[in-house]
Amino acid sequence: MIVGNVPRPLVDALRTAGRIAVLTGAGISAESGVPTFRGPEGLWRRYRPEDLATPLAFARDPALVWEWYRWRRQRMAAVSPNPGHFALARMEARRPGFVLVTQNVDGLHAAAGSRNLVELHGNIWRDRCTSRPPHRFDRQFGEGTEGAMEIPRCHCGAPLRPDVVWFGEGLAPGDLEAAIEAFREADLALVVGTSSVVYPAAALPGVAKSAGALVVEINPDETPLSGEADVVLRGPSGVVLPELERLAFGGA
Ligand code: OAD
Repeated sequence: MIVGNVPRPLVDALRTAGRIAVLTGAGISAESGVPTFRGPEGLWRRYRPEDLATPLAFARDPALVWEWYRWRRQRMAAVSPNPGHFALARMEARRPGFVLVTQNVDGLHAAAGSRNLVELHGNIWRDRCTSRPPHRFDRQFGEGTEGAMEIPRCHCGAPLRPDVVWFGEGLAPGDLEAAIEAFREADLALVVGTSSVVYPAAALPGVAKSAGALVVEINPDETPLSGEADVVLRGPSGVVLPELERLAFGGA
């Protein structure tokens, strides 16, 4: 395990790897002003996930859950991608076989220009009908009326919910399979800004490692992955990722 300096094999792998898989978590959006979940300022220090982010919480008090998600949407509406998001989008443009798997629901990777993207925990800007099978909507649905309605409703009459994955729920069909495939086939895996405690996302670096990939953690703090990673770069992703890009591809 290497902590700190950027080793040559990592720079070479960024430049030449046939397949690169990236997993991001809340930490990559921290420098944009989106709060993380854990840590001293984390959302789960102030709110209980079981009150706000489970199917049971929504069944019990949908208005409270909507209030929380509207508050988060308001906060996220005011933020923009940071240099870490942009560096990953530019790396994707240079490297064929680049897949970005994110646990974030804020949409900042897409806003930065990432295209080959798996949003493992959904997207906070979409609503989803609670009927079966569900209808999915982007944010336009209910726009303008949403503030007036406590619980927005689908055209079929069923309540809408944010199209995010809650605790105790499965991921959207196909997403986990796509993520596992990306990490199994990767030559290089970058794990950025995640506490590596929420599964199944936290299992992805192990999938890459077992298949022989170089696994790199980018995080200012230690995580359960730190001991397993081949390289650990301690620092904020908004600094480390542009620096990696500069070392591999040149530029400013
Ligand atoms: P966490 O809040 O658990 O972890 C954020 C990680 O980012 C921590 O390890 C921090 O050290 C690191 N970090 C903080 N600032 C950083 C920076 N500037 N650059 C790089 N890293 C930084 O967030 P996640 O791991 O994403 O799930 O949490 C996983 C899931 O738990 C979330 O997707 C969410 C949550 O409950 C659901 O809502 C289903």
